[in-house]
Amino acid sequence: MNTSDFTSNFWNIYTAAILIASFVGLVWLLVSQNKTKRTGDKVETMGHEWDGIEEFNNPLPRWWFYLFVITVVFGLAYLLLYPGFASFKGILGWTSHNQYDTEMVKAQEKFQPIYDKFAKQPIEVIANDPEAKVIGQNLYNTYCIQCHGSDAKGAKGFPNLTDKDWLWGGKPSEIEYTIRHGQIGVMQPYGGLDPFPDETVKDVASYVLSLNENEAFRSRSNPQSAAKGKVIYDQICFTCHQADGKGLQGLAPNLTDNVWLWGPTDKDIENTIKHGHTNQMPAWENFLVTKKADGSEDTAKLRILTAYIWGLSDHTGEAPEILPYQDENGNAVTDTPADDAASVTIGDDGVVKFYFATGSTDIAANANDSLAAIVAGAGEGKKVVISGFHDATGDAAQNAELAKNRAMAVQAALVALGVNEGSIELKKPESTEGDGSNAEARRVEVALQ
Ligand code: HEC
Ligand code: HEC
Repeated sequence: MNTSDFTSNFWNIYTAAILIASFVGLVWLLVSQNKTKRTGDKVETMGHEWDGIEEFNNPLPRWWFYLFVITVVFGLAYLLLYPGFASFKGILGWTSHNQYDTEMVKAQEKFQPIYDKFAKQPIEVIANDPEAKVIGQNLYNTYCIQCHGSDAKGAKGFPNLTDKDWLWGGKPSEIEYTIRHGQIGVMQPYGGLDPFPDETVKDVASYVLSLNENEAFRSRSNPQSAAKGKVIYDQICFTCHQADGKGLQGLAPNLTDNVWLWGPTDKDIENTIKHGHTNQMPAWENFLVTKKADGSEDTAKLRILTAYIWGLSDHTGEAPEILPYQDENGNAVTDTPADDAASVTIGDDGVVKFYFATGSTDIAANANDSLAAIVAGAGEGKKVVISGFHDATGDAAQNAELAKNRAMAVQAALVALGVNEGSIELKKPESTEGDGSNAEARRVEVALQ
């Protein structure tokens, strides 16, 4: 098919012929079926009969007949007024284009004064304007929701726009720039390169964890592995993420906080290092900035949306509350403890489990927070039971001694938190079954009774 199919008159004549034929056909059908039954006439039948059942040849009901007539008249009137019959444009001269244009002009007349108002105001002022908020929310729902989510909290790979952590800057001018021109974040893949076997990826990830300001992440880092990782980090990664891991806005994200664009688990972090990411925020200039008749720019929509986004994070100047990273279902993500580091977790049953590095009695640094419920329970007069477990590797007596010392370290922490020594019961250390040479075996459990 080529374009002359559309420019030649063939299709016009073709559709016109079909139209005329169907009209004539319809009218003929109507007239031919419009035999009125008169009283006294014998009702005609169609001439066939099944077991005494005959089909009557009654005319159409009146109301039905007139509906048909109205339809035919409507069709003719429509084709007279609007385009539809061949190339005839209709006496009203309507086109979908000029309907759109008139609607746009009307909308423009209605909204232009509002837009003009916002075009002059500072973003901070627009952000607090209730009318602008509604327009901003609508713009967000139209252009942004599919990636940043209905609550603007983002998802893996799509940044949260409601926190105070900004890859590309959170000042109004910076947000405006990002929305207008877009951004591309590139973290190159390192896995598989000559100095980067999987082992090295793990080492560097371990070092990244050790830089974190939260004990929960630091405790997942393995000291020996991290030491090896640091060497690589200081050669390659520091150029973008900086020596302290705090990153540089517009260059690379902060790796020391609990905001993870690509997820917080060991696996997520190793994946980023191994496979890299290329992440694009599209440019919205063509949708949000229009040229005015006098050639100047109308940036009102861009400014209203910028104000809306800026207003989503709070601007009190206080440090943001860092919530634990959550999965899609809103559950806090806790990674399995690293194999050789002190850590602490709280089970669903309220049992607090302490894990220890090989041979060590040091308890995890964030123990106090995790013990809060136990301390409160003891305050209500409940009994605190501490059970020690040890793995089955090495000398049994030595293991039992270590388990006892670990249990006592936990007991000391509880006493330091104000728990009466008399309400604490130390159980005899137990050996765990199985090969037991893992972190899970080297644990102390604290429970209320
Ligand atoms: C196709 C998906 C997509 C859409 C649609 C989208 N964004 Fe983004 N946006 C991203 C990605 C991906 C990033 C992160 C880029 C990076 O990693 O550097 C981002 C980053 C941003 C940032 C910077 C965040 C920071 O931490 O600095 C802002 C602000 C933003 N988007 C606002 C918007 C607004 C407003 C809209 C609607 C006009 C929008 N985005 C529509 C994908 C999208
Ligand atoms: C050329 C600059 C650059 C270098 C070098 C670099 N990164 Fe990155 N890194 C980035 C950028 C940019 C991102 C964010 C990618 C995005 O926007 O999606 C990132 C993201 C990450 C993340 C994910 C952060 C999150 O919030 O989920 C980790 C982890 C990371 N880098 C670790 C490393 C390590 C380890 C090295 C060294 C082996 C390294 N990076 C080298 C630029 C760099």
